[in-house]
Amino acid sequence: MHNRPFALSIVNGDIQTTEGKKRLDIGIVDGKITEIGSALSQKAVRTIDASGKLIFPGFIDAHTHMGIPILSTQSVDDFESGSIAAAHGGVTTIIDFTAQQPGQTLQASVQERMAKAEGKSHVDFGLHVNVTDQPEQRLHEISELTRQGFCAYKVFSTYRQAGMMITWPEFRLVLQTVHKHGGLLCLHAEDNAQIESQTNEHIKAGHLEPIYHPRSRTPEAEAEAITRAAEIAGELEARLYIVHLSSKAGLEAGLIAREQGVELILETCPQYLLLSEERYLQENGHYCITTPPLRTKDDQEALWQALADGKIDVVATDHCPFTMAQKESGRKAFHLTPNGIPGVETLFPLLYTYGVAKGRLSLKRLLQVLALNPAKLFGFSDTKGETKVGADADLIIFDPKPERSLRATDLHGNADWSPYEGFKLIGNIDFSILRGQILVEKGQFVGSDVFGRLL
Ligand code: URP
Ligand code: ZN
Ligand code: ZN
Repeated sequence: MHNRPFALSIVNGDIQTTEGKKRLDIGIVDGKITEIGSALSQKAVRTIDASGKLIFPGFIDAHTHMGIPILSTQSVDDFESGSIAAAHGGVTTIIDFTAQQPGQTLQASVQERMAKAEGKSHVDFGLHVNVTDQPEQRLHEISELTRQGFCAYKVFSTYRQAGMMITWPEFRLVLQTVHKHGGLLCLHAEDNAQIESQTNEHIKAGHLEPIYHPRSRTPEAEAEAITRAAEIAGELEARLYIVHLSSKAGLEAGLIAREQGVELILETCPQYLLLSEERYLQENGHYCITTPPLRTKDDQEALWQALADGKIDVVATDHCPFTMAQKESGRKAFHLTPNGIPGVETLFPLLYTYGVAKGRLSLKRLLQVLALNPAKLFGFSDTKGETKVGADADLIIFDPKPERSLRATDLHGNADWSPYEGFKLIGNIDFSILRGQILVEKGQFVGSDVFGRLL
């Protein structure tokens, strides 16, 4: 206990924890939760009465792409607009990626990305280090970067033509090195050979409509890459994190590997839980071109079940937004659409409404996949992911009563559309708080002088 007044206290709210809810008050000093109890020991400079509200730890979106180059354009949210959108959606930590240019050292790619995020992001941020160019020559850098605290790396088993793919022998070397230094490797798992041959066949046959995106990038291609990667991870006894799992076949491949003892961590995204490939047959279907593609209702069901059962560890968004105008280049040719969709602001609202409120997901699981697990996996569970004394005061005050329809015009990112337009949502975020500083209050962004820190 301390004897300074709290800078902020939050009273009468129901704190949501993985053990259930507790009606307790929270005292905050210097950006940290310093007291949780039924009668706080000090007065506060400001007190928020959270009667009737749920208090969540600030959520973590472990997979975003702010301002990354894709095809001849770049995703339209930078760290400023993307973090403002995140805060409105209850996300107080994002983990983004470096973008290694050809010939660039990993160290330089980290510096370049940090320059884009520091002093711009209004939420705390981590960076996964992408290893896309000359991986064998970068191995020594991984040990140096891990010493500096960059513990997560990411590779792609596809996107050969974009110069991002690494081969399976290279994958083995990177995984071995990351594992040796105690880091975690993330993999975008799709078998490039299958994808390239199917894409080329469709293009040759003049099949250019958006539906040929999922027909070119099939669940089998995802499953094949997961199986292959898991085999290597098993041989090396190394942990491996699969990003944006999209399909039942991919899930089954992952679960088989786990049964064989491979430590595989699985991430999925709201789009694979809530949207299906019929979208590609509808008007402006090319807007929803993202990779991996949207799948079938059967795939969605399998992913929901695995999420509820604890077989999927993390839900993140793969937030990679483009405007309608940027997407236009692909209206008549699926492969010319910059791939990616917005999502950071809708992550928690969608998972709460279509998971918790619909009875598909317990609150405990929601807290695990959106907060606790990513904090543990990426090494900041001392400070984030849970509402506890000693943690950063990253807090969301959520009113579970109001109902509304999602409108892109109400969102705060730079994309001018949302794949979830018209979706009914339950509840409203009254406050988003980062390290004791209010970012969003009753729908207004008030955190323009609050900046995120690199984790
Ligand atoms: O289509 C997507 N998801 N774009 C972002 C890059 C990636 O593969 O995650
Ligand atoms: Zn990816
Ligand atoms: Zn991604």
